[in-house]
Amino acid sequence: METSRYTLPLLLIAFSFLLTLSAQMTGNFKCGEPGDSPSTCRSLVGYSSKQATTYGNIQTLFAVKKLRSILEANNLPLSTPRAQGVNPNQVVRVPIPCSCSNGTGVSNRSPVYTVKKGDTLFFIASEIFGGLVRYQRISDLNKIPDASEIDVGQRFWIPLPCSCDEVNGQNVVHYAHVVKSGSSLGEIASQFGTDNKTLAQLNGISGDAQLLADYPLNVPLRACNTSLREESLDAKMLLPNSSYSITANNCIRCSCEAANNWTLSCEASQLKPSSTWQTCPSPQCEGAESLFVGNTTNTSCGPRSCAYAGYSNQTIFTALSPDPCSGSGGNSSGPPGNYASTFSSSFSFAMVLIQCALICLCLL
Ligand SMILES: *[C@@H]1O[C@H](CO)[C@@H](O)[C@H](O)[C@H]1NC(C)=O
Ligand SMILES: *[C@@H]1O[C@H](CO)[C@@H](O)[C@H](O)[C@H]1NC(C)=O
Ligand SMILES: *[C@@H]1O[C@H](CO)[C@@H](O)[C@H](O)[C@H]1NC(C)=O
Ligand SMILES: *[C@@H]1O[C@H](CO)[C@@H](O)[C@H](O)[C@H]1NC(C)=O
Ligand SMILES: *[C@@H]1O[C@H](CO)[C@@H](O)[C@H](O)[C@H]1NC(C)=O
Ligand SMILES: *[C@@H]1O[C@H](CO)[C@@H](O)[C@H](O)[C@H]1NC(C)=O
Ligand SMILES: *[C@@H]1O[C@H](CO)[C@@H](O)[C@H](O)[C@H]1NC(C)=O
Ligand SMILES: *[C@@H]1O[C@H](CO)[C@@H](O)[C@H](O)[C@H]1NC(C)=O
Ligand SMILES: *[C@@H]1O[C@H](CO)[C@@H](O)[C@H](O)[C@H]1NC(C)=O
Repeated sequence: METSRYTLPLLLIAFSFLLTLSAQMTGNFKCGEPGDSPSTCRSLVGYSSKQATTYGNIQTLFAVKKLRSILEANNLPLSTPRAQGVNPNQVVRVPIPCSCSNGTGVSNRSPVYTVKKGDTLFFIASEIFGGLVRYQRISDLNKIPDASEIDVGQRFWIPLPCSCDEVNGQNVVHYAHVVKSGSSLGEIASQFGTDNKTLAQLNGISGDAQLLADYPLNVPLRACNTSLREESLDAKMLLPNSSYSITANNCIRCSCEAANNWTLSCEASQLKPSSTWQTCPSPQCEGAESLFVGNTTNTSCGPRSCAYAGYSNQTIFTALSPDPCSGSGGNSSGPPGNYASTFSSSFSFAMVLIQCALICLCLL
């Protein structure tokens, strides 16, 4: 009975291996905690097809409303046509609506796929959707009784992995990266500007040995800092490095470049407005008539800039950095967008002081 001594440890090793396997296969796109109220956000998946395809086909496959959203996420010009080719194995970033519920993030009942002749669930998951989802997951979430029996014309929801969670206290855009065989956590981390420890923690694995090829890895992409107001209709805009977004009813173009110190950079788009706006409101900073969104001027005391702070259905908000010449408040190093709120809170504090003084006077 020499072997029995090894049976238990071997079983334990096999068991923990299975546990970590299932962690990367299903559990690595955590989102919130079980029991939290559902939340939503935009997430990204990295899609590649073994066959040549087009941006238009990818838009249709993933049910993305506007081709423009794909162009923005890949930093491609707005003039890129739907028929523009995508090479075999070229990775395209596809934006998806993420819904977090019961601690897991999954694309919000979208996209829906219609079964074609010759399809199997395995083929749909690993080939058509590029390995972004496991076929068991499609089967489970669509409550398919027998995964080996699917019919032409049958329609399934494809549950793509995603997340809305902050990582290390920072807002990030989550990206589902399908791991290539032979790659390491360190390589993936440096490719996407993060570190191997963060990747390992987020995905519930301890090192390269547990990195599974052809399965999606949850990669947090750092987003540019913004000056957006909370009440802005695009307050939740998060742009990762080397992407852009047309916002404010088409009137403003914002872009994020790591090289610009991770600060969102916005300017008038020069496009026709959408929605009810006849013309785009002039994105001019109040109190500095010559400064428009995106402008920075040099004053004798230092630079002063006008940043985009969001929009409502009436107007575009701007954020003028404090006047460097009025040195009273010191050299503010905070984000320029907070100037207005700082002003109003110190104003109400002054009002409280005045009221206290009045009450004291009355008491005397
Ligand atoms: C929520 O998750 C917990 C464990 O993570 C599970 O036991 C429970 O069944 C889930 N509830 C729903 C409605 O999926
Ligand atoms: C991260 O990389 C460093 C060196 O490159 C290595 O020592 C460390 O074990 C790695 N950590 C993980 C979790 O892979
Ligand atoms: C961006 O914001 C984070 C916290 O929200 C802050 O720590 C960081 O310094 C900011 N970076 C820049 C360049 O303003
Ligand atoms: C940002 O994106 C550019 C263009 O893709 C790339 O050259 C650069 O290395 C990226 N920087 C970081 C920090 O990710
Ligand atoms: C980048 O941002 C940091 C933190 O806000 C700041 O200390 C640094 O001076 C900035 N660098 C440049 C080149 O603007
Ligand atoms: C301000 O930005 C606008 C475009 O948004 C540009 O046409 C103008 O020249 C800029 N002005 C200055 C002073 O930089
Ligand atoms: C403002 O001054 C800096 C140096 O202090 C200079 O690099 C920059 O070009 C100037 N910008 C303008 C618009 O004059
Ligand atoms: C602005 O939008 C809100 C809600 O989206 C709506 O109730 C309101 O009527 C809109 N105002 C105008 C002037 O369109
Ligand atoms: C603000 O700081 C800049 C350099 O960071 C300096 O040139 C300028 O004189 C300062 N302004 C005041 C009012 O202290």
